[in-house]
Amino acid sequence: MKHELSIAEVLSQVEKTVQPHFGKGRPADYIPELQRVDPRKFGMAVKMVSGAEYVVGDADEPFSAQSVTKLFALGIALNRIGDEVWTRVGKEPSGTPFNFLSQLEHEGGLPRNPFINAGALAVTDMLMRVAKRSDALVRDYMGFLAQSSLTIDEDVAASEVETAHKNRAIANLMKGAGTITHDVEAVIAAYCRQCAITISCRDLARAALPLAAGGFSPVVEETVFPERLARRLNALMLTCGLYDSVGSFAYRVGLPAKSGVGGGIVAVIPGQATIAVWSPELDRFGTSVVGFAALEAFSQITNCSVL
Ligand code: DON
Repeated sequence: MKHELSIAEVLSQVEKTVQPHFGKGRPADYIPELQRVDPRKFGMAVKMVSGAEYVVGDADEPFSAQSVTKLFALGIALNRIGDEVWTRVGKEPSGTPFNFLSQLEHEGGLPRNPFINAGALAVTDMLMRVAKRSDALVRDYMGFLAQSSLTIDEDVAASEVETAHKNRAIANLMKGAGTITHDVEAVIAAYCRQCAITISCRDLARAALPLAAGGFSPVVEETVFPERLARRLNALMLTCGLYDSVGSFAYRVGLPAKSGVGGGIVAVIPGQATIAVWSPELDRFGTSVVGFAALEAFSQITNCSVL
């Protein structure tokens, strides 16, 4: 990062820059419970590998992590199961929406990558071998990394289980293909509960910090996974973290990142810091409009793009 301003000054400039972007998107409506959130919320947290922390706005308010949890679920799977994960899921960008069905059928029930819903459901199925309650495993792992106690929003989880028709179709297709092995309803329930984990920007920036510090967590003060795993997770975020808008994100921001339909995005500046941002209004790719704009402004001001 090369910049004249302090990070605190950068964040207040970013907050001003994003104001015109409110009202351009809409909170997720296909999970009814997510519509109850105030669309004007905005929080951002930067956690440096040196330990310093900077926040602005609603950075301490927990929000629905949704697909951001897929990053941590994959981290656990690669740590605990290893390369066998890649026999059930690929590592290529999909170029399709996160819940796309026909590509999966076309490709024999093998998901393109672990961040689209199909891939994340396959990861959930594998994690269910490691722990009966894979959602609690992911919640506790994220909580451990953030050194904070996280919860699962039961209303959001129930709302998603009730309306997960597309995910059920995806899971059934994969069950037929042998990609998933557990009962489809059990996988759907575990996956929806995982997505319903709530976390604040401050805790999310803390939890992701090992990705910026070669697997070492300055928060936990220990190495939590091998350096190689941090590099690989960053590579997957850079190429697949934002589904079919990952190219625009690389072009405009230039950082590995993972988005969620709760309006959260976590981004990594390798060797330096993590950034978590939250604002609920989404673009048509399921990414926070204001969050995207905030990361773009931050990247431009600090020149922190990895590209
Ligand atoms: O399965 C779903 O559709 C949601 N629980 C998660 C999707 C999501 O967050 C996509 N990311 N932007």
